[in-house]
Amino acid sequence: MAQLFSQTILAWYSLHKRDLPWRSPYNTPYHVLVSEFMLQQTQVLRVMEKFREFTSKFPTLHHLADASKADVIKSWSGLGYNRRALLLHSFAQEVAEKHHGEIPNTKEELQQLPGMGPYTTGAILSFAFNLPEPAIDVNVRRIYVRYFQGKDQGLPLGKKEEMELYTLVKNSIPDGRSSTFHNALMDFGSLICTRDAPQCSSCPLSSSCQFYPLYDTKKATVLFVAEKKIEPGVYEQGKFIPNRIFRGRIVEFVRKNDGRIVSVIKLGKTVKADFNTEQEWLLKLCEKLQHEKLIKYELMKDKIRMYLGP
Ligand code: ADE
Repeated sequence: MAQLFSQTILAWYSLHKRDLPWRSPYNTPYHVLVSEFMLQQTQVLRVMEKFREFTSKFPTLHHLADASKADVIKSWSGLGYNRRALLLHSFAQEVAEKHHGEIPNTKEELQQLPGMGPYTTGAILSFAFNLPEPAIDVNVRRIYVRYFQGKDQGLPLGKKEEMELYTLVKNSIPDGRSSTFHNALMDFGSLICTRDAPQCSSCPLSSSCQFYPLYDTKKATVLFVAEKKIEPGVYEQGKFIPNRIFRGRIVEFVRKNDGRIVSVIKLGKTVKADFNTEQEWLLKLCEKLQHEKLIKYELMKDKIRMYLGP
């Protein structure tokens, strides 16, 4: 069954693959690394624009390692989750120092580096080095859980099930084709086996898929709810906005006003449309960003001077 699955995915991919800049055969492990940090929670279309810009500015791992944190944060503009920029920068610095600038190709070495979780480690090994290591993100998880188990990924998996999934994916990677196969899974998950409206009628695997006979649009909506996380945040003009959005707006404000003295009110009104008296909330967000080394600031009564980086 795994072989039918993998061969069908590869055949589908040969006809429908997306042309993404980090996939070109000339791209290096460094390019894969940058793309993977960018693609964590940022949409492919947005990443495509920023990827070229970022890799032109920092064409090699050494260029990135030698840059200042402030410059890297500045260049991350438009991608959100600015902490990832710092982790990527630290990753580059550690590889420059400890691995002579060569991104390692073992799980053990990669796992020691900043920002590496099981997914990113698998992604570097499979996309960059074509090694048979699963890179299980939400797309891959959804496809396998649906196809092989007839379930949906909204339900969190336990430890034992995670291990089973890992083995299932590992055993399905075709010999010598890990990189292409993983790219194929990414595209299949984005174009066919999508979260909210899977395109089962165009799916070459529907006749052997365990989920297909159970799939029904009404039930599916209910199943998918569990995938959405509840995040901390506050109301802005009657709408609940997660703090992560406000954090992004603060960093964006600092990108534009690096080193300038501005009023706290001006910062507040730029960050939150209906900002009024929530200074404490605003300064708490700033403090956290400073603690994470994304910004630094000096507070002077009702004025503030802010900088990018530590
Ligand atoms: N998401 C994470 N990695 C990806 C990749 N290499 N291609 C497309 N989407 C991705």
